[in-house]
This record gives sequence, structure tokens and C-alpha cells, in this order.
Amino acid sequence: MRYQDYVNTRYKPKHSEMVCGFYAQGTKGVKPKWLAGAIAAESSIGTWTELTTTKPYMKNLAATVFEMKKSGAGYDLRIAYPHELFENNNMPNILSSVAGNIYGLKELKYLRMNELTLPKALAKSFKGPKYGIEGVQKVFRKKTPLIGTIVKPKLGLNTKDHAKVAYEAWVGGCDVVKDDENLSSQTFNRAAARIRETVKLKRLAEKETGERKAYLFNVTAETFSMLKRTGMAADLKNEYIMIDILTEGWGALQTLRDKSRNRIIHAHRAGHAAITKLKYHGMSMPVICTIARTIGVDQIHVGTAVGKMGENKAEVLANIKACTEKYHGIKRVMPVASGGLDPRHVPALYKIFGNEVIIQMGGGIHGHPKGTRAGAKAARDALEATLEGTPLKEYAKSHKELKSALRQWGK
Ligand code: 3PG
Ligand code: 3PG
Ligand code: MG
Repeated sequence: MRYQDYVNTRYKPKHSEMVCGFYAQGTKGVKPKWLAGAIAAESSIGTWTELTTTKPYMKNLAATVFEMKKSGAGYDLRIAYPHELFENNNMPNILSSVAGNIYGLKELKYLRMNELTLPKALAKSFKGPKYGIEGVQKVFRKKTPLIGTIVKPKLGLNTKDHAKVAYEAWVGGCDVVKDDENLSSQTFNRAAARIRETVKLKRLAEKETGERKAYLFNVTAETFSMLKRTGMAADLKNEYIMIDILTEGWGALQTLRDKSRNRIIHAHRAGHAAITKLKYHGMSMPVICTIARTIGVDQIHVGTAVGKMGENKAEVLANIKACTEKYHGIKRVMPVASGGLDPRHVPALYKIFGNEVIIQMGGGIHGHPKGTRAGAKAARDALEATLEGTPLKEYAKSHKELKSALRQWGK
């Protein structure tokens, strides 16, 4: 088969097939149909030349470009892949096929994957989230947004001070405290000591406030250390771990999902913009959300629309959709808004996300003029005002922490 033979716009994909959507733009003079076919061929049974080793029984394994629409300087394509091309429960394998070599084809100027739709049997061969939105809500006994913080400064605090900042945030009103994405087990703050120290103060904060509190312990490391640190969290009965899914890698994330000892998995997406930022190349964030959901994270960062992260509201809503839309009965992933947020943003975030969100503020809590505890109180006040429909300025008249937060960061 030649590349162009992989295009058939009258073809109707079968339910058992996987479907990927791409934007593809060729280099000058390249025939669009040839190029579209190349993407399907190279991810299934074809290559640049006819082969003597091709057998007749392989024919049903060919991928088919079944949609091809002009879009700007390129084409929007949809391709159907027979499920037999992939190994069940093997995300690296699936992505090496459909998002692998093809990105490097000389005739392809740009290629972006905007859709990844797994057929039911293939999707169900993965574990999916153990807890998901409902599971997380059960832990906190809350169905409203959760307030979280990231201990700041992100690096440099010693273990005792780091744990103390977490404690202050919890007693001030945070439900969730997480490590920053690049804190692991540096010499100034070793993981083993940190989890011990922090869990101790978490229990104290729970006792003092009567609320459930969570510590999202970063286990991002090479896989043996990742599992060892997960074990430390489990031994101390700390419900959560967090992982930087992109720097860690999909295979390692599958390992973590298998060996998490029932920890709730918080997914940080550090580095995603290297892949997602250009709208005409790479992979979209909803696709990344789908991959992470299929493997089985319980919560994931989806952008903020109003904070410091680049995505606009429509893009954030598309990320949320990938986390929460119907997906073969696979649990929904809790969206996390984080990056450049402070109490002023809470009403807008509530409009965008509704109740199913964790709102995390780093600088927006620890930058409060009266410190972390007051910052957390201000964040919680902003949520309470929003839930009862009171404008923040109004609520701030009787809540001094919120009042100074609004003064600090403007109206
Ligand atoms: C994101 O991508 O959403 C950000 O990196 C912010 O994440 P953090 O606040 O948890 O570090
Ligand atoms: C980050 O790494 O960007 C964050 O953890 C978010 O922190 P911020 O709320 O201070 O922006
Ligand atoms: Mg961070």
C-alpha cells in the first residue's frame, strides 16, 4: 500500500477502533493526501516503500484516515486505528504508535494531536482513577471547592520550617497543602524526614480544626525512589501522594497507579507547555488529561484562566471536560486550579469550575501581609463569601484577613 491508500473519507470507524484527531501541516509542495496517509501508515503497518515482508493477513491492521478537512495552512485529520495494533494496559506502547515517529517526518512541518479516543475495551484495560472526584469529596466530607496551598518558597526551607508553614496553612483554613513540583529529597529537606514531620503536624491541625486535612507529598523521582517514597506515605497513613506526570513518564505513572497502596494520586503537569503551548504542534492539554485519566490519576492541574497560567477560559473548560465527561464508566478526575491565584480570583474561578475544583494559592496565601495563617483564612473567607453570594468587598468589612488580602493585591 502506498501512503495515499491509507486515506478513505467514506470509511466509518468501528466502535472497537481507536480514533485520533490531528492538525497536520506539510512542508511546501507536499501532497496533502500523501501526507495524511503517511501519518496513518507509519502508525500502523506501512512505511516509505513497499515491503516484501507484508502478508495478506495484515490488511485489517491498516489505520485509515476517514476525515480530512482544510484548516488554515494545513488539515484537520481523524484517523481510525484497529485496536489490535496496541497492547492492552500499555500507554507507552499506544503513544509510541500514534504519537511517536510520525512527529519527525521530514515532510511534516507541524503536527498536533487534539483528540485521543480509546475504545471501551482498550480504555478498560487500564485501572483508571481509584478515587476520582467523588472519592476525594468523601475524604474531605465536602462537596464545595477545596482550598489548597503550595508551601513557598518552593525550594530552600528546611524540613521543620516547611512543615510549620503547612501547619499554619491548615489551621488558617486550607484543606490541602502540597509540595511544589520541584521539591523532592534535596539535602536541605529530605523526603523521609519531611513526610514524618508534616504528617505529625497534619494530625495536630486536624485535631485543632475538626476538619480533614491533606498533605500532597511529592514522590517524583526515578521509579525505585518513587515507590519507596510512596511506601513512606502509606506507612504513615498519609492519604495522598503527588507526582509530576510528564517528567516522570507514562510508564512510571502506570507503575505508581499499580503500587500506590491505595494513595490518592495528585497529578502535577510541570513541563506540559513544552508539548501543549503551540496550537499547531505537539499535543493538546485535553489529550494529556485523557491519558492521565485512563492510567488513573485522581486530580490534575488544568490551568486557571484568571491566574498566571497561559490558558484562556475556553481552553481550561476543554481541559475540565476531558477530566469529567462520560468515558466508558471511568471515574472523573478532580480539576485543580493553580498558578498565580489569590483570594480575589475565587468568585471568577467558582463561575468557571463550579464546586468540583481544588483552588490552590501559593504566593496568594504566603504573600499575605500577616503571614500564612491569615492568608489561608483570607482564602477560605473568599470561598465562603462566594458560596453565599456576597461580594468579597462586602464580606471583607467583617473579615479582616480578607480585607488585608484585597488591599494587598488590589480590588
Ligand atoms: C500548573 O501547571 O497548573 C502550574 O504549574 C501550577 O502548579 P502548582 O501551583 O501546583 O505548582
Ligand atoms: C508554581 O509553581 O507556579 C506554583 O506552585 C503556584 O504558585 P503561585 O500560587 O505562587 O503562583
Ligand atoms: Mg508549583
